Amino acid sequence: MSMEESKKLVAEKGLRHIAFIMDGNGRWARKRGLPREFGHKTGAATFKKVISYCYECGIKCVTVYAFSTENWKRSEREVTALMTLFSAYLDDAYSDLSKNNIRIIFLGDRARLPSLLVKKIESLEKKTEQGDKILNIALNYGSRDEILHAVNSLLKEGANEVSEEEFSKRLYTAASPDPDLVVRTAGEQRLSNFLLWQAAYSEFYYTDTLWPDMNDEELDRAFAAFGGRVRRYGAVVE
Ligand code: FPP
Repeated sequence: MSMEESKKLVAEKGLRHIAFIMDGNGRWARKRGLPREFGHKTGAATFKKVISYCYECGIKCVTVYAFSTENWKRSEREVTALMTLFSAYLDDAYSDLSKNNIRIIFLGDRARLPSLLVKKIESLEKKTEQGDKILNIALNYGSRDEILHAVNSLLKEGANEVSEEEFSKRLYTAASPDPDLVVRTAGEQRLSNFLLWQAAYSEFYYTDTLWPDMNDEELDRAFAAFGGRVRRYGAVVE
């Protein structure tokens, strides 16, 4: 499929929100005899190319899983390398985001993040607040943590019954529609505590491609697979 065909498919099939589990950076580096950090560095460059292609194809909302609540268990060296990459991205993302009218939102618990990083996050979120497209970066994100955070905030306010809509508004993803398509790279087929509530009716696409090798052709294949799915939402479609 070409970009033109992907654009058409995105519009016709209503692909509004795509979410990525960016897996395989470590394996990509190991295959080359490099330290894991190199995989993340290349993965960060891939992330920029991937999101740019998605927006070019007309997708309005992109979410990436950049760092989970469990990723703190990795070596200090790897965690520091990742935080440094996020910080560098925050430093230079503004011009691209504003040019393309993209609003950036960070999903996750900020309490454990370095305070300078939190300052940069808040400033970039504020500066891009008017954007008509969304980029969600899940950072120190865990879906169970997110759900409990929502429940506890409702309990504190004395709520004793809530609707699905009200509950969704308490999640970090309040500004986004539910994901239509969740893509996971590097051959793993699990959700790993990502968007558990939001992905209730999402389509899934798995590929063996390692995240740093992800490219436009592979994205076209993911869109084409989505185009071939019949979304029933529990109903019967003749
Ligand atoms: C999983 O691969 C990947 C991560 C835990 C980090 C993802 C982060 C990036 C791609 C950088 C994104 C950058 C920005 C600016 C948002 P893994 O390390 O678990 O790979 P493995 O399973 O092969 O070891």
